[in-house]
Amino acid sequence: MLTAFWLSIAVVSAIPIGKFQAVFNGAEEKGHDEGNFRDLKVGELNFLHTTDTHGWLGSHLTQANYGADWGDFISFTTKFKERRIGSNDLLLIDTGDKHDGNGISDATVPNGIRSTEIFNEQDYDLLTLGNHELYTEDNTILEYYSTVVNDKFKGKYVASNVEFVTNESEIVPFGSKYRFFQTSNLRYNILAFSFLFNFQRANSRAIVTPAAEELQKDWFQEVVNSYPEEKVDVIIVFGHMPITDPEEHEINKVHAILRTYYPNSVIQYFGGHSHIRDFAIFDELSTGLQSGRFAETVGFLSIDNVRSEAPRFSRRYIDFNKDSFAHHSGVNFKKDLRTERGANVSSKIGEIREELNLTSVVGYVPRSYYMDSKPLTSKKNIYNLLTTNVLPLLKSKKTNSSKSRFILINTGSIRYDLYEGEFTKDTEYIVSPFSNDWNFVEIPLALAEDVAAYLNNGAILMTSMGPPESRMKAELPKRRDSCPFIHTPGFTKGYTTLDDFGCKGDDKVHNSELYFPVPNVVQSVELQAGWSESVHFVFYSFIQPYVINALNALNEEKKVVTYKFSDADCMKYGGKSTGELLKDYIRSLDKS
Ligand SMILES: *[C@@H]1O[C@H](CO)[C@@H](O)[C@H](O)[C@H]1NC(C)=O
Ligand SMILES: *[C@@H]1O[C@H](CO)[C@@H](O)[C@H](O)[C@H]1NC(C)=O
Ligand SMILES: *[C@@H]1O[C@H](CO)[C@@H](O)[C@H](O)[C@H]1NC(C)=O
Ligand SMILES: *[C@@H]1O[C@H](CO)[C@@H](O)[C@H](O)[C@H]1NC(C)=O
Ligand SMILES: [Zn+2]
Ligand SMILES: [Zn+2]
Repeated sequence: MLTAFWLSIAVVSAIPIGKFQAVFNGAEEKGHDEGNFRDLKVGELNFLHTTDTHGWLGSHLTQANYGADWGDFISFTTKFKERRIGSNDLLLIDTGDKHDGNGISDATVPNGIRSTEIFNEQDYDLLTLGNHELYTEDNTILEYYSTVVNDKFKGKYVASNVEFVTNESEIVPFGSKYRFFQTSNLRYNILAFSFLFNFQRANSRAIVTPAAEELQKDWFQEVVNSYPEEKVDVIIVFGHMPITDPEEHEINKVHAILRTYYPNSVIQYFGGHSHIRDFAIFDELSTGLQSGRFAETVGFLSIDNVRSEAPRFSRRYIDFNKDSFAHHSGVNFKKDLRTERGANVSSKIGEIREELNLTSVVGYVPRSYYMDSKPLTSKKNIYNLLTTNVLPLLKSKKTNSSKSRFILINTGSIRYDLYEGEFTKDTEYIVSPFSNDWNFVEIPLALAEDVAAYLNNGAILMTSMGPPESRMKAELPKRRDSCPFIHTPGFTKGYTTLDDFGCKGDDKVHNSELYFPVPNVVQSVELQAGWSESVHFVFYSFIQPYVINALNALNEEKKVVTYKFSDADCMKYGGKSTGELLKDYIRSLDKS
């Protein structure tokens, strides 16, 4: 009761804001908050959307807000369809990135061999890949042979601008180029495409063509001829591409091209990759939804008056927990959410955790460390912890303590906050999922001391070195006053999303989080007495191109050496990965 009272205070102060508010008569902000939840507005055509799950199929064990697992999610979609959809239609969509973030996917060889089985238990109507299916050949081969050509997803796996190189060196589409189908109840004719953003670091088994270029190809013209506007009710464009893209505007280019062929069709976008909750209005007949990351969110979208000239769109971000799932599917108690199939998947997840030893406890984290809700200078900041206490533990046969040393990491190599409590084998994968190799270069101190600043202030390209969500979150301070800052006793901290419909998209009102900008790189510096000599500059092999660029640019300015740096100057350093060093550090706390 008390929470309901607090809630009404928090909500009254909400200021509606939205770029296109006037266009949308039935805009979200006019809705009421029911009890502690904001309800879903089911319409004729409904969608549930996940993206960027990155192996998080086993729930967030230390965060109640996201405490449901993949089995609960399957139970939810089943119950939701049975109890809420009735004679309307529901489509289930995922937009890729299924590796690198959790032990369930990353503790196996090949990466994802067990998590893919679990993920594929969900009955997606449309699914595709993200860039994390394309870093290693193993991941790409697994995705193609286990999911793309899986009978269960025949026709439903769509990748309009990605090609696969088969074991026989044949180049084939990575799934269907498009899907045309009819919904089962209201018989809407749906034409679906899927685009991956212009990702240029794919391994040799995949080829990515920029979306705007792909749309110039013959196959697209043939689709337009076969399915002209009058034969299509809704175009769905789902893919691994941010729906708000202030730098490349890729999705806006796609939209402009589609509108030339389909000026009067409803076009609904589903996006991913930037790891945020987001909703964007493209025009009166077109919106886009993006549903966060790491199985923290199920995105809901409905379209009503689908065949009219004034369709109505509604969106919600559902917290990934059983309370939310039970509430929105309309069951009375959490226990009524359970389906046999969902429960089977949950127990299989439990078995995999055991098999992979993910629950085995390594040590105890005495307090929580955060990526961006504490400033870098704070002792509660995870990058501060790493540069002060963890990276100095790196050992190598290539150096010794008489040598000055810089160790530089890109902040995007850290993926999650480190929470107080047990540090398990899983925690290592969660905080630092990449199995990094260290390289080093021997350079004069005069150059070494400026590399980090160069990478942090340099060209916009460098922002890909930070965590995906930081680029968009960096925009927040500019928009900070747009949503009320909520600080209500009894509420948990969580998402307060500002999108084109306003501040009320989240299915629960949460206390707001502070945000502090994350730089592209951070470093640990150990200067020894003879510091005027050269130093060892150590970094992840993954970011070597950035480091070489920085050294050459700085040297051009400062003229410290007379040669240009290249890959040939960089050598293997050896030593444990950041995740392993963090584990060693946590272990050492127990002993002290
Ligand atoms: C393709 O090759 C990989 C190894 O490169 C192998 O693991 C896989 O089983 C092969 N798949 C098929 C369908 O031939
Ligand atoms: C759940 O698992 C049990 C035991 O393995 C099996 O007998 C049953 O058929 C499964 N049910 C479903 C719906 O998959
Ligand atoms: C899990 O731990 C057990 C016992 O410590 C060990 O025998 C087994 O090899 C481990 N399995 C994996 C996958 O690490
Ligand atoms: C430390 O390394 C330097 C050069 O990298 C070498 O000259 C020196 O002998 C080493 N010292 C020890 C104690 O190994
Ligand atoms: Zn991702
Ligand atoms: Zn991605």
